Amino acid sequence: MTQRPAVLFVCLGNICRSPLAEAAFRKRSAEAGLCVDADSAGTADYHVGSPPDPRSIAEASLHGADISNYAGRQLHMRDFLRFTHILALDHSNLADVQALAPPDATARIGLLMDAVEDGKNAAVADPYHGNQDAFAETWNDVDRAARALVERFMRAVI
Ligand code: 4NP
Repeated sequence: MTQRPAVLFVCLGNICRSPLAEAAFRKRSAEAGLCVDADSAGTADYHVGSPPDPRSIAEASLHGADISNYAGRQLHMRDFLRFTHILALDHSNLADVQALAPPDATARIGLLMDAVEDGKNAAVADPYHGNQDAFAETWNDVDRAARALVERFMRAVI
């Protein structure tokens, strides 16, 4: 691979799922010695400048990741040129990302969980209205995807 992976994780609010996906990907990349750029964003602007949901901060902390200094931001047009991959957490996020993509977008756009099982079309469920267990499930999903992504990048098959 000539360009180092630069991955943007996108959900709706950028306070629950995508910060956890970013944290898991940073963690698994570091463990594998893989150099990456990673960030996360929301399709909506509800939580711009806000820290992640306290339940996401708690879940990340259980797994040795401190995300308390992350700040919510909205997906921006320049992201389509800055990142090699833009990965959506669910189908609605994917449709929104695809609708915003400019004709000269260079980022590959896809569904995060397709990294685990191509074509299965699985989504990461929104835990916002759930309890802490829902956030544990979110971590499980995004961590599986993070490990699969790192493996794919190491083998240069993505
Ligand atoms: P996220 O979860 O998209 O995983 O960050 C949500 C966060 C906030 C809202 C919805 C989903 N909200 O409606 O404010």
